Amino acid sequence: MKNFITHIAAAFCLLASSLFQQAVAEDGYELWLRYEKLEQVPKSAPRSVVAACSDLSPTLDAALSEILRASASILGTPLKQGDRISRHALVLTSEACGATLPNGTLPNADEVGTEGYVLQSTLINGKPVTLIAAQSDIGVLYGVFDYLRRMSSGEAIADLDVISRPKTQLRLLNHWDNLDRHVERGYSGQSIWDWHRLPGYVDPRYTDYARANASIGINGTSLTNVNSDATVLTPHYLEKVAAIADVLRPYGIKVYLTARFSAPIELDGLATADPLDPAVQTWWQAKTDEIYDYVPDFGGFLVKANSEGQPGPQDYGRSHAEGANMLAKAVAPHGGVVMWRAFVYSAEEPEDRVRQAYTEFVPLDGQFAENVLVQVKNGPLDFQPREPFHPLFGAMPETPLMIELQITKEYLGFSTHLAYLGTLWEEVLAADTKTKGDGTTVASVVDGETYDYAYTGMAGVSNIGTDRNWAGSIFDQANWYAFGRLAWNPDASAEDIAREWVKQTFSRKPEVVDEITDMMMKSREAVVDYMTPLGLTHLMGTGHHYGPAPWVDDLGRADWTPYYYHKATRGGIGFDRTETGSDAVDQYAGPVAQEWASLETVPDSLLLWFHHVPWDYEMQDGSTLWQSLVAHYARGITTVAEMQSEWASLKGEIDSERFNQVTDYLNIQHEEAQWWRDASIAYWQSINQLPLPAGEAPPPHDLDYYKSLSFPNAPGQGE
Ligand code: GCU
Repeated sequence: MKNFITHIAAAFCLLASSLFQQAVAEDGYELWLRYEKLEQVPKSAPRSVVAACSDLSPTLDAALSEILRASASILGTPLKQGDRISRHALVLTSEACGATLPNGTLPNADEVGTEGYVLQSTLINGKPVTLIAAQSDIGVLYGVFDYLRRMSSGEAIADLDVISRPKTQLRLLNHWDNLDRHVERGYSGQSIWDWHRLPGYVDPRYTDYARANASIGINGTSLTNVNSDATVLTPHYLEKVAAIADVLRPYGIKVYLTARFSAPIELDGLATADPLDPAVQTWWQAKTDEIYDYVPDFGGFLVKANSEGQPGPQDYGRSHAEGANMLAKAVAPHGGVVMWRAFVYSAEEPEDRVRQAYTEFVPLDGQFAENVLVQVKNGPLDFQPREPFHPLFGAMPETPLMIELQITKEYLGFSTHLAYLGTLWEEVLAADTKTKGDGTTVASVVDGETYDYAYTGMAGVSNIGTDRNWAGSIFDQANWYAFGRLAWNPDASAEDIAREWVKQTFSRKPEVVDEITDMMMKSREAVVDYMTPLGLTHLMGTGHHYGPAPWVDDLGRADWTPYYYHKATRGGIGFDRTETGSDAVDQYAGPVAQEWASLETVPDSLLLWFHHVPWDYEMQDGSTLWQSLVAHYARGITTVAEMQSEWASLKGEIDSERFNQVTDYLNIQHEEAQWWRDASIAYWQSINQLPLPAGEAPPPHDLDYYKSLSFPNAPGQGE
């Protein structure tokens, strides 16, 4: 009998523990909005929430329901929703909602603008409360998310005196999603936009998408791929677009679409898409009016034109400005904007690819209509693990330049490599263009401080898909998060953002936060080290960009081959972009150009981007270039190994589902880092015929083996 009872008890424990495990297992769906319960409810915790408003908009409804959801989880019970201000209430109010508060309580527009807010511990009618107040209701929603972030991070919420407002106006995700739900450069499943079932079925996930984006201040989303399909502009699709816009609207998120320049021909049989042709102009005007009938607050168009085979104004001998202005005129009466991409390079390869956008766009400065922004990638090539900042930043004082960052990791290991991009973006934003004296950072150009742009903005190429965890991996959620936070404040610190994200995503325990933040902070440099160290670039596999392929030198066009970028010969390696070469360095402001053009002063990290040097070139630390290159690969692999053991040390601190996935992904990353090193070294040795530095293991396979690997089904393929 005793035995029987022991058995039953053991079985019960097993069941209970497996139920418990199920309860705590997390699949990442909740993102950073998990609202983990506080170990101890602080005395300063609010007791109730009240909207001091004469009018409750859907945005304030969303704010209230977020507070109820979060408080139930963080505090253990939802706040009472009151209709009067009581002691320790959370009081939401705004000018727009018809604030029912004593005069002088609301922040004025100078302080918070149209989207900012205050969080303030104060007295109203003699009662201690926390005030979340703004000019607009969206400002209140942003304030609520800030307050909840503090609360769920375990920060003090007593004595608050916070004013926050975004430094950029347009903070957009760019989805590269096709209408068949394939996501170009997407590594997290299909497009979340379920075009076939829309508008009849509107996935509840869109509300969670809106919540997540609003929580980090994103206020726009371009739904469709820049390699665009005119079909989205037809009434059948506009109805679907309208259904998405309806869900996003309360969260302050406007919808934008990519405009295919040849749409008038493709959709309505016009003979031309020439932007100066009156019939074409009338077509776009009518089409735009129609879009606004469906989506009254439509944000505008994002356009990739005359780039990588996309149609554009140059097909008719017109300039980018003429093309952009035609669309700008159509959206202007509705308050819309045109975001015209500067990612252009000629099909004829007349000059170094990284020079071309500058060459084409700088002469157009001042020619764009007022509601056009030119959208510029962070670097002059294409979202590589490291590039210098784009020389257009600072070079177009009369044209608002938006920065385009890539959240999805097309060139940094897809979704299985841990690479926190906050540090990459911080490096670019903090870079000093010196175009208007010292301190003209890219951030100060982008946020309009330097040239007082009429519009400012940041776009991030989305990494969102139908994967349960949205982004393809838990750590890729951090990149989405960091993008939003940097778009709100381009001067924010990548490390602060990482910490903030870790506290909300994994744990508030200081030692866990430190460990994970440390992993994140070194992760991007590790990728640079094992993929493209010392200024090397674009060495990835053809088309899909998966894995190393530095040997490729014979594609349809030279500037799609890795060889074009590394130019390795027996004599040396690197792209001479000084005056003895393409002189791309000359596109930067004097002091920057001087620094990078000189071998004395160019940083090691950009050496081979700007210079072609012999393999025995002496590096700053006295090693030869070849030794240094090999050492960087090793360092990259070692860093990944460190990340693996740091993560392993967190076992028990993280729920098993997320812990195991990260563990598996880090294993993949380690294997692939090794593959990058081995394949690259096998290739460089075939060129330079040099022995490996002492102590370095030879690649386990010969070069032919690495060349023979083929991945026709790698995800995220381009057009
Ligand atoms: C990269 C990417 C393409 C994309 C292009 C763009 O080249 O590989 O898939 O279309 O950038 O930004 O337009």
